[in-house]
Amino acid sequence: MIPEFSIRLAKWHQVSGRHNLPWQGQGPYSTWISEIMLQQTQVQVVIPYYESFLVEFPNPTVLANSCLDQVLALWAGLGYYARARNLHEAAKQIREDHAGIVPDNLDDLMRLKGIGRSTAGAILSLGFKKSGVIQDGNVRRVLARLFLIDDDLSTSNSQRLLWNIAHQLAPNAGHDAAIHTQAMMDFGALLCTKHKPGCEKCLFRKECLANQSKRVSEIPTPKRAKRKELKQWIMLEVRNEKNRILLIKRPEKGIWGGLYAPPIGESLLTLGATIGIEEVLEASELTTLEHSFSHFSIQLLHFRLCAEPKTIPAGAFWAEIDTFQGGLPAPVKKLLKNEEKYS
Ligand code: ADE
Repeated sequence: MIPEFSIRLAKWHQVSGRHNLPWQGQGPYSTWISEIMLQQTQVQVVIPYYESFLVEFPNPTVLANSCLDQVLALWAGLGYYARARNLHEAAKQIREDHAGIVPDNLDDLMRLKGIGRSTAGAILSLGFKKSGVIQDGNVRRVLARLFLIDDDLSTSNSQRLLWNIAHQLAPNAGHDAAIHTQAMMDFGALLCTKHKPGCEKCLFRKECLANQSKRVSEIPTPKRAKRKELKQWIMLEVRNEKNRILLIKRPEKGIWGGLYAPPIGESLLTLGATIGIEEVLEASELTTLEHSFSHFSIQLLHFRLCAEPKTIPAGAFWAEIDTFQGGLPAPVKKLLKNEEKYS
């Protein structure tokens, strides 16, 4: 192992790490919320969402007692909505099983919806200042370089090895554990970056096995990228005489679950049939927007039709789009509110 790794890293962090993020030093609830938001989203995007979330839902019990719609509305734009649904579910678990207090041990944390081993480690170390180990993309890259792991890092063998090393490097004691966790993240995000890492300034350049063998730029070895499937979705904006549009609450499970959107489907004809509009082919085509999900991308084609459906489908209602308060998926909102010019 690298001698005094954690002590040296902490000294680097004191000078060069991040110290002013709004969730730092705010306890386990703040750590939990921020870690979930940061899972697929960058720090600068997360900050305003995090701040509004904490104002609206200042503790697990308020979050548990709120309705999912409120949570999703606040989440709109952050994407990956399963994260918000899981937060809400986990808050209810905390209310029922832990008297509204975030639990302070790995097993109980990992029983909560949406909390895996790394998020639990972050909550323990950053939130409770107890021993806890994390393993995000930045940390994996740092460890892979320091110890020259030139395998696909997602395999179970690599994972076992990475967790093992991460445990050996992390201090056991409270406050140091918090600093170590934040320092590991910052070291990966700021110095041992994916592209153009700052090896010449690196405090571990002598010990780093990838640096010794001049292979830093090759590690971690890229996973072979699968091409994402591109699907075409039609969004039919139906306007009535009062200039209101037909919105439907999307099923809780699945893409944009629990959010509101006009009818969306794979063809105009099937959409027309489901909402009972015969003249559906008269809809005018407006713009198209591309959007990427984790496993596929969509081309969202925006059609508009002024019509009164014969029957309003179950769960649909007329809404005034400028004043509508519910959560709209970000691409849908862009199209409906004509917020920007799209290609
Ligand atoms: N990404 C995940 N957790 C983070 C944290 N605590 N600070 C900065 N970036 C992060």
